[in-house]
Amino acid sequence: MTKLQITDTILRDAHQSLAATRMRIEDMLPACEILDSIGYWSLEVWGGATFDSCLRFLNEDPWDRLRTLRKALPNTKLQMLFRGQNILGYKHYADDVVEQFCRKAIENGIDVIRIFDALNDTRNLEAAIRYTKKYGGICEPALSYTISPVHNEDYFVKLAKELVQMGADTICIKDMANLLLPEAAYSLVRRLKSEIDVPIHLHTHNTTGTGDMTYLRAAQAGVDIVDCALSPFGNGTSQPATEPLVATLAGTERDTGLDLTKLSDAAKLMRPVAERMLQEGTISVKSMRVDTNTLLYQVPGGMLSNLISQLKQANAEDKYYDVLAEIPRVREDFGYPPLVTPTSQIVGTQAVLNVIMGERYKTFTKESKAVLRGEYGRLPGKVNEEVRKKAIGDAEVITCRPADLLKPELDSYREEIKDHIRQEEDVLSYALFPQVAMKFFEAREAAEKKAGAPEDAVRTLYVEDVSAG
Ligand code: CO
Repeated sequence: MTKLQITDTILRDAHQSLAATRMRIEDMLPACEILDSIGYWSLEVWGGATFDSCLRFLNEDPWDRLRTLRKALPNTKLQMLFRGQNILGYKHYADDVVEQFCRKAIENGIDVIRIFDALNDTRNLEAAIRYTKKYGGICEPALSYTISPVHNEDYFVKLAKELVQMGADTICIKDMANLLLPEAAYSLVRRLKSEIDVPIHLHTHNTTGTGDMTYLRAAQAGVDIVDCALSPFGNGTSQPATEPLVATLAGTERDTGLDLTKLSDAAKLMRPVAERMLQEGTISVKSMRVDTNTLLYQVPGGMLSNLISQLKQANAEDKYYDVLAEIPRVREDFGYPPLVTPTSQIVGTQAVLNVIMGERYKTFTKESKAVLRGEYGRLPGKVNEEVRKKAIGDAEVITCRPADLLKPELDSYREEIKDHIRQEEDVLSYALFPQVAMKFFEAREAAEKKAGAPEDAVRTLYVEDVSAG
């Protein structure tokens, strides 16, 4: 076996999972030179919730962030997380928006695009896979890992084979809820390694404290790449920390070849950022501790905390365990969707409603109806038809690729913001987060006015930046 390669998530998933995605570009830049010299397979730096967070909370242009990181990390592959036909938003976009987003992400510096769909409906990955490849990106479709009567090893092997046929350069096992235990990981990786030829990349979290052991067993089974987070932002709800795995494998046949001293130097530069976030309360101590509820209820950690706050708002905190028991029943009725954004919120909210209304399915959320109508794609298992009928009556269920129902929409987005455009990328920011992006554009214009910068000069600056990236 060859060396185990590592993707470090400290600049994306780590702070998304531990610190509400609040890391700013200024927090990242001091460590970039060392991070770039470590020899990671890739650094995950963009996508997921970072795009929304940049615009909404940090007054940062996400595209500017990407170009800045590209310059600061010239020797390392940069990776992003992409939610299939939803891109980085919460609804399906037309294929022309998906194409333009892939193109602009790659032009501005992304090398690897990890693409997933909450339902593992491969039709929702088709366009993103096609355009990632068209513009020269490394295409990494993901298996959204979960456990259910329909999600067994055969299911995931079959899915992986289909993704390879669709053009995958690597395959990710995306265990977002930390459900994949070490022996199951060993077994799944062994089968994937024997049945498909592309590298296997494993992603988990350490919420339940099993992540390190899962990586060790997966390494023994021949996994090619794993996702870790440098120690200041490692463990807890984030990825297993990088340094312990590097130390564990040193001198073995899976030696990562990474230098612990360099990792320690990089950690030293990131530690003050983590300390500040702890003091501000952006990082809660709770999210850094081992939480075994997921092991008991197979419900992702983030979903449990959401649940508690929904019940608090409804003054029904005493119903917590009733809701925990209701979640698997709703999930079964809905055909066993994996519990990941957005299905985790949809199933969780429906379970809360079922419990606090005192009657199951007395009312449905808009999103529950949409899931049952097939708007998100094909559900993995059999749907409870009685429940579906109650939700949508005789409305027709969508059985085609959902995006086939959408007309091209890029031009109308461009038209809507034509007075605010400083770069073509603005159209994509606006397409994904219309209100948030508009606020951002207005703040940008106010800042320009204050600085007295002539608009044309600013425009030229942006254009130069793009070509340099
Ligand atoms: Co994750």
